[in-house]
Amino acid sequence: MNATIISNDEKHYPVLLDEILSIISPQNGGTFIDCTFGQGGYSKAILNYPKTKVYALDRDNNTKKYTNDLLEKNKDRFFFYNSKFSDLDKINFNKEKIKTIIFDLGFSYNQVKDLKRGLSFFSDGPLDMRMGLNTFSALEVVNNLDQKDLVSIFKTFGEERDSKRIVKNIIIERKKEIIDTKKLVKIINFSKKKNNKKTHNSTKVFQALRIFVNKEISELIKALINSVKILEKNGILILVSFHSLEDKIIKTFFKLLSENKKISRYMPDNKGKTNILKLEKKKPILPSTKEIKINNPSRSAKLRYAIKINEAIDFEKEVYEKFNHLINIENLSDKL
Ligand SMILES: C[S@@+](CC[C@H](N)C(=O)[O-])C[C@H]1O[C@@H](n2cnc3c(N)ncnc32)[C@H](O)[C@@H]1O
Repeated sequence: MNATIISNDEKHYPVLLDEILSIISPQNGGTFIDCTFGQGGYSKAILNYPKTKVYALDRDNNTKKYTNDLLEKNKDRFFFYNSKFSDLDKINFNKEKIKTIIFDLGFSYNQVKDLKRGLSFFSDGPLDMRMGLNTFSALEVVNNLDQKDLVSIFKTFGEERDSKRIVKNIIIERKKEIIDTKKLVKIINFSKKKNNKKTHNSTKVFQALRIFVNKEISELIKALINSVKILEKNGILILVSFHSLEDKIIKTFFKLLSENKKISRYMPDNKGKTNILKLEKKKPILPSTKEIKINNPSRSAKLRYAIKINEAIDFEKEVYEKFNHLINIENLSDKL
């Protein structure tokens, strides 16, 4: 599980909030986009500063209930869209200059707790995993995709070593009955060569299915590209991620747009003069021990940010080429 958040029902702890506020300086005002509203921890903290404006997005319509208070108190300063962040380019930001775009990736604790979503391997809920605005569920994936495709998904998005054995058994078992959450956990348990003492046997397969069902990789890549286009010059792109695949994509994307190389092989050689992004820090920022103590799920969070120093010229093709192998695996869903 990953999530910004929470050790009990009442208190909400947005991950790395102090660090984010010190990077984005809301005290100077400006327009911000919170791409992963959730319970609104970041939006609320930014709106506490009077000269700010926040456009917030979340694909999960259940998060709308957390906007009521903010909408009431911040007329003309807060706007919410039930939208996927890959669609950032379709939202009307009223031609405003965007100072910062923030992402706090993954699921919230509320979503994991909701048994109907079937995100937890401890639940008897349906094998669903949809975050919102999806087209298919995990049940359809596990019960319909062929052996080779399931192995690619579990290997690439879950780094599950026993993928082949698990999938072989899924194929045998699904001929007898539909595979639901409980059954899947059972299959994984008897397929694993070794029982992992630290993490639950099902962690990796569940992570892979979640990523696949929500097209988390394509979402992230499209959102990174759109963010760079939308940000004003000197604007900040800031992301908190919770698993290594996401962090690797962000790191690679930042590197591609910030190193003194030609931006695109489709453009004439520009001798590295037109880097689009600048990194203040190469290493990610991690939560303090104090934060981890208060909010244990924050322990796997990594924050990276970059500053847009030049207008974005044709860079998309190169980005897509870099990540095509991952996007192609997510596109196996076209077979469903
Ligand atoms: C970790 S939570 C964010 C928590 C938030 N920072 C807070 O303080 O409450 C992630 C949120 O992002 C949303 N989300 C994940 N992927 C998304 C996407 N592709 N487009 C829009 N929202 C997304 C989820 O529905 C979830 O509510």
